[in-house]
Amino acid sequence: MGNIAILCSGGDVSGMNPALKRFVEYSFEKGLTPYFVYHGYEGLIDDKIVPAGFKDVSGIITRGGTKLGSARSKRFMEPEYRRQAYENLKKHGIDKLVVLGGDGSFRGMDKFYHETGIQFCGIPSTIDNDINGTDYCLGVDTALNIIKHSVDAIRDTAGAFRRAFVIETMGRDCGYLALVSAMTSGAEMCLIPELEYDLERYSDCYRKQIAAGRDYFIAIIAEGVKINGVKATDVIVDWFEKEIGFESRATVLGHTQRGGNPTVYDRLMAYKFVTYAIDGLLSEHTHSVICYTKSHFTYKSIDEVTGSRYQLDPALLDLARSEYQQVLCPLPL
Ligand code: F6P
Repeated sequence: MGNIAILCSGGDVSGMNPALKRFVEYSFEKGLTPYFVYHGYEGLIDDKIVPAGFKDVSGIITRGGTKLGSARSKRFMEPEYRRQAYENLKKHGIDKLVVLGGDGSFRGMDKFYHETGIQFCGIPSTIDNDINGTDYCLGVDTALNIIKHSVDAIRDTAGAFRRAFVIETMGRDCGYLALVSAMTSGAEMCLIPELEYDLERYSDCYRKQIAAGRDYFIAIIAEGVKINGVKATDVIVDWFEKEIGFESRATVLGHTQRGGNPTVYDRLMAYKFVTYAIDGLLSEHTHSVICYTKSHFTYKSIDEVTGSRYQLDPALLDLARSEYQQVLCPLPL
């Protein structure tokens, strides 16, 4: 049936290894010969392309990160390197690629398809959950669970001192991780790029709550939020000290959010995404992204996926408004 390869591009996510396992197994089931490309598009250019077997994926389902490594390749943007990548794929007889990555990676691949005819299917993979056209990106559930563990642990120590804890989540310009984490961890404050906020409202509420006995606060801030050009995390730490009169500590969760044992949901989504990607490539879907929308998998074109900016689910935002925008302030404690 031919040769097919898989690669990981951009920020790695937990769920990539389960995806690699399913890729090898399902390729064989479909009569295809699976190949691994190491280090994303860099590996295509440098011919880090090797046949993959069952042994290569044995035991990796429990591991975060990616066995293949990933990269953000600048060289792949240059036509001469894309030509080199094409020559390498031709040498190995590969005409189909599964790409785990983000919209930038898919755009590069689409260009490559139109230049060379190498078919591809993109699998949305980023903890940011900010790819237009899909409700879910691989790795998000594991990242949310890592955040949950951290916030729960901070809550344990929070009660021991009279303090405010300001926790920064990843997500670039998207507030999904921060918002879902705040709603599911019972945070008192959440700042994300998509919701307006008024610190006066927070301060009125917190004064009332302190008078009623509150002795700690947990604030979750998306990394993309700035206040007067300064990272919001730093501003809010200061604000708690000066405006609220609480000793304050910042925790930037950083890359802990990208690792960890993949959750059941991410393992299952990896299984499904890869199965649909290979099925798509074996049918008429020569250059698409497999998206998960309204509980269904759909093949979408690059234009559909990259044509507009991802918008956070308005229903989710509505749910969070009373707590994090209007700050309705439940009392008494
Ligand atoms: O896109 C995934 C992501 O983890 C973002 O949330 C974050 O801003 C960025 O990647 C970090 O990139 P790097 O790993 O290059 O520091």
